Amino acid sequence: MSHQGIFGGKRIVLGVTGGIAAYKAATVCSRLVQAGALVDVVMTEAAQKFISQLTFQALTHRPIYTDMFHIPGGENIPHIVLADSADLLLIAPATANTIGKVANGLADNLLSAIALATPAPKLMAPAMETDMWRHPATQRNVATLKGWGIEVIGPAAGRLASGAMGEGRLVEPDEIVAAAQIILARQGDLAGRTVVVTAGGTREAIDPVRFVSNHSSGKMGYAVAEAARDRGAQVTLITSANLPAPFGMAVVRVDSAQEMLDAVLTATDQATALIMAAAVADFRPLTVAEQKIKKRGDTEGLVLELVRNPDILAEVAARKATGTGPDITVGFAAETHDLLANAHEKLKRKRLDLIVANDVTATDAGFAVDTNRVTLLGTDGSIEETPLMTKREVAETILDRVARFLTDS
Ligand code: CTP
Repeated sequence: MSHQGIFGGKRIVLGVTGGIAAYKAATVCSRLVQAGALVDVVMTEAAQKFISQLTFQALTHRPIYTDMFHIPGGENIPHIVLADSADLLLIAPATANTIGKVANGLADNLLSAIALATPAPKLMAPAMETDMWRHPATQRNVATLKGWGIEVIGPAAGRLASGAMGEGRLVEPDEIVAAAQIILARQGDLAGRTVVVTAGGTREAIDPVRFVSNHSSGKMGYAVAEAARDRGAQVTLITSANLPAPFGMAVVRVDSAQEMLDAVLTATDQATALIMAAAVADFRPLTVAEQKIKKRGDTEGLVLELVRNPDILAEVAARKATGTGPDITVGFAAETHDLLANAHEKLKRKRLDLIVANDVTATDAGFAVDTNRVTLLGTDGSIEETPLMTKREVAETILDRVARFLTDS
């Protein structure tokens, strides 16, 4: 499994057809290339009136395909090579003409021939004038495509090339890329699985404006949630971190350990895996002042009395013992000393399948940075140390193990 994210090493055939929105295909192309995809651009003749081959060549550093009978680099017949190797055929923008050809099995140019020949999943983003979109012929053709399982995204409403307002605009490049990502994820090794991930340091209220918390940024948990989504899982992210919600997953925002516990128990009822990347506060203030605590006169100090929080993983383990809850639980151990011994003890005590241990005293790993270096300890006695990697790569390594548990069980 590539550690580059979902697009890493994926072959995407990007079909560009002739409409003013063709210039936006350059943005789509650029995003895909930056995300690590190998993008082969196929342009229709009309597309080349709107945007140059050179634009896509510069973005992809690959030959651009325009002609069924012209073979760049002397390869095999392009429509066969491209059709066979594609992980996704994305047509953006898709004109009424190309939609019509594909829906009717015509293969009179390279792009329509590829559409007919490829077994790859297909995504089309229509763009045209409103009347063309609304025409019964186009609507029938789109219904045919959808009936075959071809995904159609948009069109959106807004200002059209003619200056008129209406339905027919190409959806935004980011939306097209997100839709492509979801389609590719369906081929992932966690497709059909439910994964619950926690992230962030919990906040334990002292009064309405203050809380006790820790340095956890939530980045590791978000990386795990995004990686699981990209491998096809249905993800619930339970988070106390102040990070924007990633797309394509359920996000439950919580503050305290108690709230996190409730959310975890609800979400893991039917889940395949629980990955507890959150730094749960072990203690909370015994009482939460109803009003902001004021300093009074000459008081020199303030004593906060703390009580133990529930241990979320222990509660999940107790449920597992009765036959409910996730099949696999993964914990994290953030340690400042005796890393392996402490992690091993937690693996056993919390009845985990896997624990991810990291030394939070390292400046290039752990809290708030984008990199991490961890040791994975499994119940099978395995110990796997990773080099310094991005949090996304660490996430993929953890999920490799989760996927392996699933195939082994
Ligand atoms: N954890 C939990 N509930 C808690 C505390 C921790 O579920 N109340 C989870 C964390 O999300 C993590 C793992 O347990 O996956 C280990 O967390 P850590 O704080 O290192 O362990 P503790 O059990 O709190 O042990 P200690 O603080 O004594 O090191």
